[in-house]
Amino acid sequence: TDQRIARIASSIRVIPDFPKPGIMFQDITTLLLDPKAFKDTIDLFVERYRDKNINVIAGIEARGFIFGPPIALAIGAKFVPMRKPKKLPGEVISEEYSLEYGTDKIEMHVGAVQAGERAVIVDDLIATGGTLNAAIRLLVPKPIAERVGVTVVECACVIELAELKGREKLGDKSLFVLVSET
Ligand code: PRP
Ligand code: MG
Repeated sequence: TDQRIARIASSIRVIPDFPKPGIMFQDITTLLLDPKAFKDTIDLFVERYRDKNINVIAGIEARGFIFGPPIALAIGAKFVPMRKPKKLPGEVISEEYSLEYGTDKIEMHVGAVQAGERAVIVDDLIATGGTLNAAIRLLVPKPIAERVGVTVVECACVIELAELKGREKLGDKSLFVLVSET
């Protein structure tokens, strides 16, 4: 496993000053170019979740759409896309989150998940945690006790930018990451 993690970590390319000066962009497209690193990434998540009665893999647009579906197929869960605003054609619920300037939203189709289901939320990376916080709110309806909503078993990311402490924004939800960048 350590060898697999090392290969995954070294397959991620860091591009300085993208999209803005001062940002060290973690580029997972180079991980996707290495079939062994990509397979190991999926396998590590599958090994963790396959025997945990997970019904739902919720993937966050856009890069959660790369890692989520192969995990869902391997463990026999459904895949639920959480999309940027105004992309889904049916009735949606939305949750807002903050960006450096202003806010953004993610949306999920009404009826995509059922009370009592067990979900893992998948994305490529956690930075401030705002995106995953909004994803959790989509699955765990606010005024209703969690036992009648969906259980968010865990959030799963390939990379964590640990210095931004996004983990602390997930409340009582656990976060599993393969690579923690400090
Ligand atoms: C990036 C990344 C995560 C999110 C993490 O996505 O893929 O989804 O930011 O940031 P946070 O923890 O501070 O909320 P981005 O919104 O850039 O869009 P993309 O995945 O569609 O490229
Ligand atoms: Mg993203």
